[in-house]
Amino acid sequence: MTSTNLQNQTIVIIGGSSGLGLATAHAAIKSKARVIIGGADNNKLQAALAELGEHATGRTLNVLDPTSIQQFFDAIPALDHLLITAAVIRPGRLLDAPIEALQANLDSRFWGSVHSLRAAAPRLASTGSITLTSGMVTQRPQVGKSLAAVAAGAVETLAHSLVREIAPRRINVINPGPMHTSLLTDMLGNNSARINELTNAQPLKRLGMPEDFADAALFLMHNPNINGEVLNLNGGSSWA
Ligand SMILES: NC(=O)c1ccc[n+]([C@@H]2O[C@H](COP(=O)([O-])OP(=O)(O)OC[C@H]3O[C@@H](n4cnc5c(N)ncnc54)[C@H](OP(=O)(O)O)[C@@H]3O)[C@@H](O)[C@H]2O)c1
Repeated sequence: MTSTNLQNQTIVIIGGSSGLGLATAHAAIKSKARVIIGGADNNKLQAALAELGEHATGRTLNVLDPTSIQQFFDAIPALDHLLITAAVIRPGRLLDAPIEALQANLDSRFWGSVHSLRAAAPRLASTGSITLTSGMVTQRPQVGKSLAAVAAGAVETLAHSLVREIAPRRINVINPGPMHTSLLTDMLGNNSARINELTNAQPLKRLGMPEDFADAALFLMHNPNINGEVLNLNGGSSWA
């Protein structure tokens, strides 16, 4: 076997109700997979499900709440691949910000991933995979993002550390640079001058598109020899 066909496979996407996760859900359905999406906001989830059509189902969960993560997976008898894009980003300077806000970065991205892996594992196919999401803040420190960076770095270390423990299932991470989603445009105040400035600062003079992420995520799911990798999806910004 050289690669895993995604046809008729079940792909669970926590964070599948918008942005990078939703684009991956669309791409997975095009590859004839079934998708199960999760997100916190039920209205958003229902809108995404309406958009995705009959090959998608979903339910709400809160990645900050281990009980809701367990309940989410308890409703899924079996899955082939798990992608987690959901995370809460709470910027704040280490010395000034409320500690609860700083902890939310780790509670969602890192501990949310840990709880999800533990809940998903008994149902995950032996040929299956897990894909986590980090971010370029691991490579470009920003004031007020130290704990966001630590959380992103932690999921990368988690993936490296688990390759033997979860084998024959695989685990990888996508580390995106700036991607054109509402998360980014909202952060830039939906200001087109700031969006253009960021675009032009990229080596390829383009922001990553959600479809670029979807393509990378499906590649990590179907290639049976990619394991423990962090895939930098940033148009070369790591080296520019
Ligand atoms: N876009 C970028 O430029 C960029 C760059 C680097 C890294 N990333 C990372 O990539 C991931 C996806 O980003 P995106 O641009 O696709 O963001 P997005 O459009 O805001 O999507 C985030 C998804 O996660 C869900 N989510 C958020 N908080 C949740 C919670 N507490 N419980 C359950 N679900 C929750 C959202 O659903 P609800 O809204 O309903 O909660 C949504 O489905 C994030 O981890 C982000 O940090 C993004």
